[in-house]
Amino acid sequence: MSTNSRLKTLNVVGARPNFMKVAPLMREYMKHPDRISPLLVHTGQHYDEGMSSVFFSELQIPEPDVFLGVGSGSHASQTAKVMELFEPVLLRHRPDLLVVVGDVNSTLAASIVAAKIGVPIAHVEAGLRSRDRTMPEEINRLVTDSLGDFLLTTSRDANDNLRREGIPEKRIHFVGNTMIDTMLMMKPFLKSSTVKKTLRLDGNAFAYMTLHRPSNVDNKTVLTGICEAVLRLQANIRIVWPLHPRTKKMLVAFDLLNPLQHETNIILCEPLSYLDSLSLMSDAKFVMTDSGGIQEETTVLGVPCLTLRENTERPITITEGTNELVGTDKDLLVKRGTSLIAGETRIGRIPELWDGRSSERIVSLLLNTLS
Ligand code: UD1
Repeated sequence: MSTNSRLKTLNVVGARPNFMKVAPLMREYMKHPDRISPLLVHTGQHYDEGMSSVFFSELQIPEPDVFLGVGSGSHASQTAKVMELFEPVLLRHRPDLLVVVGDVNSTLAASIVAAKIGVPIAHVEAGLRSRDRTMPEEINRLVTDSLGDFLLTTSRDANDNLRREGIPEKRIHFVGNTMIDTMLMMKPFLKSSTVKKTLRLDGNAFAYMTLHRPSNVDNKTVLTGICEAVLRLQANIRIVWPLHPRTKKMLVAFDLLNPLQHETNIILCEPLSYLDSLSLMSDAKFVMTDSGGIQEETTVLGVPCLTLRENTERPITITEGTNELVGTDKDLLVKRGTSLIAGETRIGRIPELWDGRSSERIVSLLLNTLS
């Protein structure tokens, strides 16, 4: 414990999907000013306005205390850069606890640094496993969880995964999903989004699409197949597709952007803010994605989700939610999309503890254990 007896937590974010996971925790800390002193470090893994600062303002995340500005790079160089720049920050602040979220390179890098300095680690969203080690995030998850002292899970299957890896029970805590805390907090504000007006969309006669995984966008054959499926589906439904910078770069490199731009039923746009994205997702007839978080958000919204991956680290979105894996089989994507356009619905239920109170559980666990 710090000398002033407040629990000093140092929270790390780096990339877009981290921001909605840390936002409700920061808010929860603020409810205990006499007991917790939180610091926020942004590694700068994502740096564009639309990939980073827009989330800070919309989700009212406090300005980071430290910004590392690491930027893009290969996995090794990005991870190494975070480690190198983060080590002096950790030594200077000497927190009682490092809090990392999700599975991005910044999560891994900060955890390795803390483990070697001897700072305890809490990992929010621990225990998820796709069992696909070609996925960079799977490596990040495995290493981070092996180092974590508080493994905070979103579902009971994640607890089972951790147990199977020999992690002692006392390190595993099922707390729910902080990203859903954010979603439930922001839902009442969806009306203030003007995105549908800007994109001239009405009702729910559209599908929403996101794509960014290297396995989908860096491979020409795979990306070409997905684009062919989108071109076939757009004959029957409008498709809104905000382009992740990686995806845009590869569509240009593979000469795939022009045919998409020619179709009036395909609306390509820049990455959207949290509120705009959630607004489209909640009104869409269905969603096509390779994102992890969107599989969870659509499950809670009750919107059908076709996931363009062969596996998922979030199986609960399939067993209980509205998610379905279609892989990269373009015919299957068209077939399933066509059924959803025809009105087929899938009724799911909201997973246990995805109730908007996960951050509250986490903070009370940390206070009870560490202070
Ligand atoms: C990262 C995460 C991934 C997460 C995704 C969400 C890892 C291993 N991957 O992948 O888990 O789902 O974020 O977006 O940590 N770029 C910009 N502006 C930015 C950020 C990136 O133009 O603000 C471009 C750069 O060309 C960069 C590329 O996008 O090379 C990829 O960015 P990077 O952070 O390396 O990985 P993501 O694919 O975004």
